[in-house]
Amino acid sequence: WILILDYGSQYTQLIARRIRELNIYCEIHPFNKDLDAFRNQPPKGIIMSGGPSSVNDQGAPGLNEEIFDLKVPVLGICYGLQILAHSKIPGSVEQADHREFGRSDLIVDDSSDLLKEIPQESVVWMSHGDHIKKLPPEYEIIGHTDNARVAAVRHRKDQIFGVQFHPEVVHTVYGKQILKNFAYSICRLEGNWTARSFIESTIEEIRTRVGNDRVICGLSGGVDSTVVATLVHEAIGDQLQCIFVDNGLLRKNEFKNVLDLYEQDLHLPVKGIDASDRFLKNLKGVVDPEEKRVIIGNTFIEVFDEEVEGNNDFKFLAQGTLYPDVIESISFKGPSATIKSHHNVGGLPEEMNLALVEPVRELFKDEVRNVGRELGIPEHFIKRHPFPGPGLGIRIISDITQDKLDLLREVDDIFISELRKKDLYDDVWQALAVLLPVQSVGVMGDERTYEFTAGLRAVTSVDGMTADWAHLPHPFLAHVSNRIINEVRGINRVVYDISSKPPSTIEWE
Ligand code: XMP
Repeated sequence: WILILDYGSQYTQLIARRIRELNIYCEIHPFNKDLDAFRNQPPKGIIMSGGPSSVNDQGAPGLNEEIFDLKVPVLGICYGLQILAHSKIPGSVEQADHREFGRSDLIVDDSSDLLKEIPQESVVWMSHGDHIKKLPPEYEIIGHTDNARVAAVRHRKDQIFGVQFHPEVVHTVYGKQILKNFAYSICRLEGNWTARSFIESTIEEIRTRVGNDRVICGLSGGVDSTVVATLVHEAIGDQLQCIFVDNGLLRKNEFKNVLDLYEQDLHLPVKGIDASDRFLKNLKGVVDPEEKRVIIGNTFIEVFDEEVEGNNDFKFLAQGTLYPDVIESISFKGPSATIKSHHNVGGLPEEMNLALVEPVRELFKDEVRNVGRELGIPEHFIKRHPFPGPGLGIRIISDITQDKLDLLREVDDIFISELRKKDLYDDVWQALAVLLPVQSVGVMGDERTYEFTAGLRAVTSVDGMTADWAHLPHPFLAHVSNRIINEVRGINRVVYDISSKPPSTIEWE
């Protein structure tokens, strides 16, 4: 496996994704991690990421000298390279006269190892203000650009390499080849980390960890918790008990459909709990989005807690924590501003005294999907759009009532089923309907109407962090609007949301 030491670059996760795409396992840790932790299973290579600091800044993250004790190949990217130079000759890194951001042409000077099978000239992506002015004599240049004499280097004796550009971003055309050269040829790793191998080793780990004890798992209807439950079930069979709570805020027929899938297709031991009245009661009259989230989160905990209380032989709680959440919590950067507090099944209180089983905590979302496919979870389920934990509760832009929920469910169902029917569902990352608290005048037949407005939103995105509105065909939108106004009593106007994220967000609340 490969150890990635994080110096705070916005691209660190991308390095991990590219390495995983080579079917090689890797982990991200803070730059100053005590590497003794890996004594039993040392990495076969180390990559040091870029970072926002300048090596000359006071208190800038330094070189972790322990990396050399491991005697494995090292690749420094951007800041990672500069810190290698700076540690040999303090002051060798300087602010560049021409800061380089964006595309640049790499010219290969030596193609024997790191830059093997890269054309003589190719586009690379730069993003740095500092550059190496004086290369320590231990190193030699193997690639340059017009602007940066030192674009790629190699240690003359040891297996230490550095690049000033970012091989992990897709704009660096041969970036993946460079990482492949490093991982396969230089670190001598084989790409044998696959969904199947992950499943096999994870099942073993779960069995060892859990022994004969019982595990409880909250299912949300989403891919992550479903994959977790299926994995744990493969490992320990009916020592697992799943709970699927109807919070009354789910889509039309969702509770029944998903419960059927769990029971009939995946044969999971699942208990469906209809707690919709309780959620609605707790949410009565609440308008503020964050307050709604807190109430929904707490009510879920109450319901779940009661289930565990009555069954105190549970020792473990299985959760669908993903790698980006883990990185977020171990990264040395400060937490970013809370725009929305996301309450997932994951937010269960520590007092519950359950040990955690988090079998996909090292995986990215697309890797979880691949594991799900390998476990035989049906494709239409794997490809479902994300759906927020608070459900339709944050899509009614006012206080929540049963009538409004029923209305929104019909609107949502028409939109989503039309997307599926017209083969557009997989083209968008997420699609949703909101019920606006706006009434407007319309005319139906010869009658004046004064009814509510439905908002439709569909976005394209890679990870939900940024998103663009989906340019759905106008005839399609016209057809959906027509159906909604004709079929859903209480709606006489439909609007389509054409804002991107940022500055808007995907959900309206
Ligand atoms: P925003 O609205 O923040 O949404 O652009 C990004 C993604 O997160 C989902 N989302 C939530 N998921 N609990 C969740 O589990 C929440 O409170 C929540 N709020 C937003 C949203 O559906 C989108 O996929």
